Amino acid sequence: MSERRPRVLSGIQPSGNLHIGNYLGSLQNWVLEQDRYDNFFCIVDLHAITVPQDPAELRQHVRELAGLYLACGLDPQRSTIFVQSHVSAHAELGWVLNCQTPLGWLNRMTQFKDKSAKQETVLAGLLNYPTLMAADILLYDAEFVPVGDDQRQHIELTRDLAERFNYLYGETFVIPEPMIRTVAARVMGLDDPTSKMSKSNTAAGHAIPLLGDLKKTRKAIMRAVTDSGTEIAFDESRPGVYNLLSIYQKLTDKPREEIEAHFAGQGYGTLKRELADAVEATLEPIQARYREFTNDPAELDRLLAQGAERAAAVANATRDRAYTAVGLR
Ligand code: TYM
Repeated sequence: MSERRPRVLSGIQPSGNLHIGNYLGSLQNWVLEQDRYDNFFCIVDLHAITVPQDPAELRQHVRELAGLYLACGLDPQRSTIFVQSHVSAHAELGWVLNCQTPLGWLNRMTQFKDKSAKQETVLAGLLNYPTLMAADILLYDAEFVPVGDDQRQHIELTRDLAERFNYLYGETFVIPEPMIRTVAARVMGLDDPTSKMSKSNTAAGHAIPLLGDLKKTRKAIMRAVTDSGTEIAFDESRPGVYNLLSIYQKLTDKPREEIEAHFAGQGYGTLKRELADAVEATLEPIQARYREFTNDPAELDRLLAQGAERAAAVANATRDRAYTAVGLR
């Protein structure tokens, strides 16, 4: 009998404009370690609607993200891939957890503060975003949550909520751990290496989009903000060069010393050119596979329906456990 593999769960919002930060901070790690874990990966459409969405675009973005999951190398045989809203237990446990979450815990979330500052009208769902994310994780008894660095606080909150719930109602949830890789866990904008590369920033030259035109991406990399120095080294006090080197390191999987030796005596132009080559070598095949997968929406829908069925079998059992614990059964 094969040994039981630890469970992981993670998700990405279908908000369009996925970029290399999303890939290096999450998707690439999911794919690389697919065989080590029992994997659940969702497309978190209920999270996407915490800010206003155009319905037709949202529908389109869900299929696109499913295509991208597959194009990046997730394999539906080895990973359960599904859409969050297709498994009703997410909304159901999310509600129960909302009723267990002190308001102060939500008010201090830095992502809420950042995102709400950009909204004309702040929707209640945006404040409650982290409790739904906690439900996503806890429903699957996930031991690990592979994400980028910006999700650390949400996973801390999930742990606090699970511990509080277990204390009040008896052992119900597994306490999850964040799994955040050391390299490229926070990719910064090409135009401003002091701010995180972000889907909501659509300014030309900010992001390296996963599905964007590769010639434009090369231009954006060549124009990336660096500094007036010349030395190419992993030095965090020079955030522009550090960011480019970190992306290069994660894409090429080479040790830092080897990379520094490789670029010794070269100018920033060489680093940018070789980074653009590495980005192209990664994204070209992903884009080609993406076109194939999204050419057949019926097959994508079939895979997602199959994923939802597998996910629901696990999630419903946990929801029932939580409902019973609080007295709803
Ligand atoms: P989302 O959709 O904003 O981002 C998806 C993943 O990409 C990572 N990421 C980055 N990594 C490195 N550098 C960046 N600049 C960068 N920007 C984004 C994020 O850390 C994330 O791993 N709340 C989550 C979605 C979610 C979720 C979950 C994740 C909902 N439920 C349950 C894990 C488990 C989010 O907004 O991700």
